[in-house]
Amino acid sequence: MQPSDSVMNLRQVFVTVLMFGVAGLLLFMYLQAWIEEHPTASGEKLQQQIINQDSKLPHPEELATAPKYQSAAANLNKRRTTVIMGRHSQEKASPLGEIASSLVSRLSEQQKMTEAFLKQQVNLSPVMRPLNKSLIKDDRWKNIDEAQEKRRYFLYDFCKKYSSENRLRTHLVRMVSRIYVEDRHKILYCEVPKAGCSNWKRILMVLNGLASSAYSISHDAVHYGKHLKKLDSYDLKGIQTRLNTYTKTIFVRDPMERLVSAFRDKFEHPNSYYHPVFGKAIIKKYRLNAHEEALKTGSGVKFKEFVRYLLDSQRPVGMDIHWEQISRLCYPCLINYDFIGKFETLEEDANYFLQLIGAPAELKFPNFKDRHSSDERTNMEVVRQYLKELSDTERQLTYDFYYLDYLMFNYTMPIV
Ligand SMILES: *[C@@H]1O[C@H](CO)[C@@H](O)[C@H](O)[C@H]1NC(C)=O
Ligand SMILES: *[C@@H]1O[C@H](CO)[C@@H](O)[C@H](O)[C@H]1NC(C)=O
Repeated sequence: MQPSDSVMNLRQVFVTVLMFGVAGLLLFMYLQAWIEEHPTASGEKLQQQIINQDSKLPHPEELATAPKYQSAAANLNKRRTTVIMGRHSQEKASPLGEIASSLVSRLSEQQKMTEAFLKQQVNLSPVMRPLNKSLIKDDRWKNIDEAQEKRRYFLYDFCKKYSSENRLRTHLVRMVSRIYVEDRHKILYCEVPKAGCSNWKRILMVLNGLASSAYSISHDAVHYGKHLKKLDSYDLKGIQTRLNTYTKTIFVRDPMERLVSAFRDKFEHPNSYYHPVFGKAIIKKYRLNAHEEALKTGSGVKFKEFVRYLLDSQRPVGMDIHWEQISRLCYPCLINYDFIGKFETLEEDANYFLQLIGAPAELKFPNFKDRHSSDERTNMEVVRQYLKELSDTERQLTYDFYYLDYLMFNYTMPIV
């Protein structure tokens, strides 16, 4: 064999290896871009999986934050970091480095474009639009309107101060993933669980012509039916147009009330998703000498155990939208909500909002509680009883956990 032949062979082998490397990288990037653009598609696949495994349908919201999905996302992120680091170390040594680095720069250009879009649309100059009150004819809404304007200015001022330094950065699609669309009356509603969201979805379905009365829609139809569209199901232009022209609303609730309400709803009643998925992991990690039965079923989680999980930087299971901070569900400083309702004045706020957007006069916000309706509603007195189970430090840390929600919506920590 001639020496030049073996050099050729080596070269060929090297080139082949390079080509495979580049092809793999391209495939990986394509998949990653695809996954990022199709969060709902993977969610649906997961939903299908869970439906196949489990005869009782899980709440669709539960799927978005299901641990499987989260750990897949975490792995993806880990992989992405590894790959990028690997690329950098190869950059100088081989032509693959050059190709890879041009790919990386193209990818980061994409990211920059998304960021530029964010800045331009919602981030840079958060102008507060005046509420269009041309449909309000009488002054029985005067007090509610004054409270509304105060809240709007309060949040606006807070965001101006807060955002200058600490801008929340996120993908546009993720940012709007909890927002429901009602095209007839041009409404965007960001869903905050445990703050009247089931009844809000009922109202949106009626406004959209999907039902004739809010009272005729069962809890399951509200949450499992695929009737209302989410904002992230539109293309960039569709999202942009709606963000700029629709009336955007959010309904919030005192953070501790929301937390206790979520705990009572998910852990104090039989639940085929929260007990096996969250309950088991919580009891395993935070209960000393747990009984075998409790470890097996995940039932009987105590509020204190639940809070220890919430505050743990190494949670054995991920977060869940029912106790996720509102600031991370709805991004109130990025999306300039036009109308801020509060659970504490839910019916008045909601009915005023319905007037503003020109809903049919007979449509009123329903006042029923459709889950565990015999339980006492979670009010401040109930919350205090639960908070008493915590130490002072745990209470303070829980407050810190919801700090932004407290600040944005002018809530104060309850005195226990
Ligand atoms: C306010 O709402 C009314 C009724 O929907 C509409 O005709 C009018 O154009 C709106 N005004 C502005 C400034 O958007
Ligand atoms: C904020 O809350 C305090 C205490 O509840 C209240 O007195 C004040 O009016 C609120 N401010 C706004 C802007 O709503």
